[in-house]
Amino acid sequence: MTNNKTFSMIKPDGVENRNIGAILDKINKAGFKIIALKLTHLTINDAKSFYSIHSQRPFFNDLISFITRGPIVAMVLEKDNAVDDFRTLIGSTNPIDAAEGTIRKLFAKSVGENAIHGSDSNENSEIECSFHFSKREIFNEI
Ligand code: RTP
Ligand code: MG
Repeated sequence: MTNNKTFSMIKPDGVENRNIGAILDKINKAGFKIIALKLTHLTINDAKSFYSIHSQRPFFNDLISFITRGPIVAMVLEKDNAVDDFRTLIGSTNPIDAAEGTIRKLFAKSVGENAIHGSDSNENSEIECSFHFSKREIFNEI
């Protein structure tokens, strides 16, 4: 398993607030190469499957409503140590706790509506990249 790719999505709040461009700029300037990218929309079933690990958590229904209420931007990013470096770039789940300059500090409003997702392990990165993209779309020779 490689450690040079991670999956991210700009969540519906990030799209609604017209922060797609600013967030992609931060990602590029932090040294990540975008190797797959699309504006798409999760169905309720997609969202339940993508976040199935949280199905027993009290915030699950709110999370599913939020993540399906509008388009998201799904992407595969490449960099050495991609998963950990990207989690550092986005900051803590709750923007109140996020470090200055992180994407969540800059663009998130609350723990629930926190602008961006990043994979939490190499294993989940592979699962999440294949959930959203075909092998043909994850073209990394650029
Ligand atoms: P993500 O998976 O979206 O990158 O976020 P994360 O790892 O930082 O946080 P995680 O624990 O995986 O939670 C997934 C998403 O669920 C929503 N959430 N709401 N209301 C709440 O207490 C609460 N806690 C989590 C957030 O959208 C969080 O990113
Ligand atoms: Mg998570």
